[in-house]
Amino acid sequence: MDVTIGTACGKVILFGEHAVVHGVPAIGLGIDRGAQAKVRPASDGLNRLRIAQWAIDVTETDDHSLARAFRAVLGEGEQAQAIDVEASSDLPPGAGLGCSAAMGVALVRARHPNASLAEVVDRAMAWERIFHGNPSGIDAAIAAQGGGVLFSRGAGATPIRIRGELILCVANSGIGSSTKSMVEAVAALHRAESSRIGPIFEEIGAIVALGGRALEVGDSHAVGALMDRNHNLLKQLAVSIPELDAMCSIARGRGALGAKLTGAGGGGCVVALAPNHEVASNITEGWGAMGLDAFVTIVSAVSTSAHRASPAVEASL
Ligand code: MEV
Repeated sequence: MDVTIGTACGKVILFGEHAVVHGVPAIGLGIDRGAQAKVRPASDGLNRLRIAQWAIDVTETDDHSLARAFRAVLGEGEQAQAIDVEASSDLPPGAGLGCSAAMGVALVRARHPNASLAEVVDRAMAWERIFHGNPSGIDAAIAAQGGGVLFSRGAGATPIRIRGELILCVANSGIGSSTKSMVEAVAALHRAESSRIGPIFEEIGAIVALGGRALEVGDSHAVGALMDRNHNLLKQLAVSIPELDAMCSIARGRGALGAKLTGAGGGGCVVALAPNHEVASNITEGWGAMGLDAFVTIVSAVSTSAHRASPAVEASL
């Protein structure tokens, strides 16, 4: 068995997080940060996963969530040759940028270099379920596919074409949150107040439809306005926190066309759309002055899929 490398991209959800768990479509974009996994034959016969930057060194039998997820990716009784995996990511974990999905997809790709896109996503979902309980699948789909993705639980992932380029500013609140608990909290709210929450999901669905069209025609002002509306609806789902609201306000005050939390909320990241590079610098400087980690990522029709997620990126060393 050769040494193989798999890569996958991180993501921002532009419209539709949480509602997507309940069957509404959502739109996410692959970003040029992600994860990498290198697989080599194990010399000691043990399946081992190492993530040096997080001081993780586990074997598949350890009692650790990463070991359980690793086990889920390896699959029951499929393993002919034990493997040693070295994984890394330039995404902050637990911050809504799809770090776990990117790592899962990268690992699956390195382990199964000939797997089809559908098989990669399927196997990565076993990894995702360990961390997120009831994930919609959007994170794994974007990690594997990159670019612009319209996703729904019923229809799966469809690439969407983005006209022009989107200059996205991302900032991490530094407040950790659990996607699993946030998803459970929204589900509980939905059960308790279905007549209030149902229409919010429907309105998010309408935003996704309008947002998809705005992305396809390159109407960045409409995209920004829809991001603001989506953030307000996420507030009504009780997944925003004052810190995220403040980060969005700073971005809008510094010229963003729109801003919202991205991912599960409760902490994690916000994403803002800038009309140009100067405003993007202005926004990230504003966040920097608050002591926040921030970066700019460009998404265009020449998508990140070629950069991070294509099987062509995988190399047999
Ligand atoms: C997390 O990135 C997005 C959520 O909608 C959860 C999911 O879709 O699995 C909050």
